[in-house]
Amino acid sequence: MHNQHFVSAQQITKEMFDRYYRLALKLKKISQTEQGRRYLLTTLEDKRALLYFVQPSSRTVLSFQNACYLLGAKVSEIRDVSLTSEAKGESNHDTLRTFAAYVDLLIVRHKSETLVHEASRLYDTLKYPVNVVNAGSGTDEHPTQAMLDLMTMEEHFAPSGGVSGKTICLVGDLKRGRTVRSLSLALRVFPGAKIIFVSPEAFSPRDDILTELKKANLPFSIERNLQVAIPQADVIYMTRIQDEYDGKAGESSQVDMRAYSLKAEDLKNMRPNAVIMHPLPRREELPTTIDHDPRALYWKQKDNGLWMRGAILLSLWGRENLNFE
Ligand code: CP
Repeated sequence: MHNQHFVSAQQITKEMFDRYYRLALKLKKISQTEQGRRYLLTTLEDKRALLYFVQPSSRTVLSFQNACYLLGAKVSEIRDVSLTSEAKGESNHDTLRTFAAYVDLLIVRHKSETLVHEASRLYDTLKYPVNVVNAGSGTDEHPTQAMLDLMTMEEHFAPSGGVSGKTICLVGDLKRGRTVRSLSLALRVFPGAKIIFVSPEAFSPRDDILTELKKANLPFSIERNLQVAIPQADVIYMTRIQDEYDGKAGESSQVDMRAYSLKAEDLKNMRPNAVIMHPLPRREELPTTIDHDPRALYWKQKDNGLWMRGAILLSLWGRENLNFE
């Protein structure tokens, strides 16, 4: 069996999303009974995964870890580089090579934009299969987040054709926010989808993403005023400032982000069936006073992480056929 990596939202096709979406829903349904949970425990019982998360995470690491538990895969975990031999000067190459000796899957969150790709290339040269999943690569990509975001939208908009044909408004630090970068790429495969990017000039989306959208003929606009975008959107996808990536200049402190926060009074300007999403964690851009609103989908979005990541694990290992009714 050859390797199956999921390292970029560039890999997402409509057929792939539809397949993973159906599988995630099936997984959720099967897990509702004791008998179903017992069955699921057998599906990946021969597999071992390493969670190599050396950037902070709560949701992604726990949803992958619990998806492994649900499916019976064994899990190893590294959360702190200072406790590995990298702290003694071991190279990325040797570190990745070492990991491959112990596991069938490497799930990586790292500040590097390239390490996950280096891992997949290295593992393709090995005689035994080791898969790689990108769980967040610096300011570049977070493709599994894009999949669970799309799942959340697809479920909500099922009565009106799903994500296709919808207008998605992406708000906040669009330059360094990896969730919105991956989501933008993934939206290319949904016919009729449109994007409105809303950010201050300093945190505009980068040209590489805009070039890909143009190539795919996905219509997009860049808007500085959130109030103008809100009534046009089916999804208002908020994100926080990514100030952990500030350089010495302290870029974040030079920009007033207050205009890129959602306020309770903005809700009345939303389309009736529009929703609010956020990859979380959040800050001031999404006040908790909005949480009670039925259009606030971000906690459901977080919950979908477990099911979608379980579906990703099953698919990477070719175990999509769940023989359980
Ligand atoms: N959305 C997301 O990636 O959350 P965590 O950083 O908590 O994993």
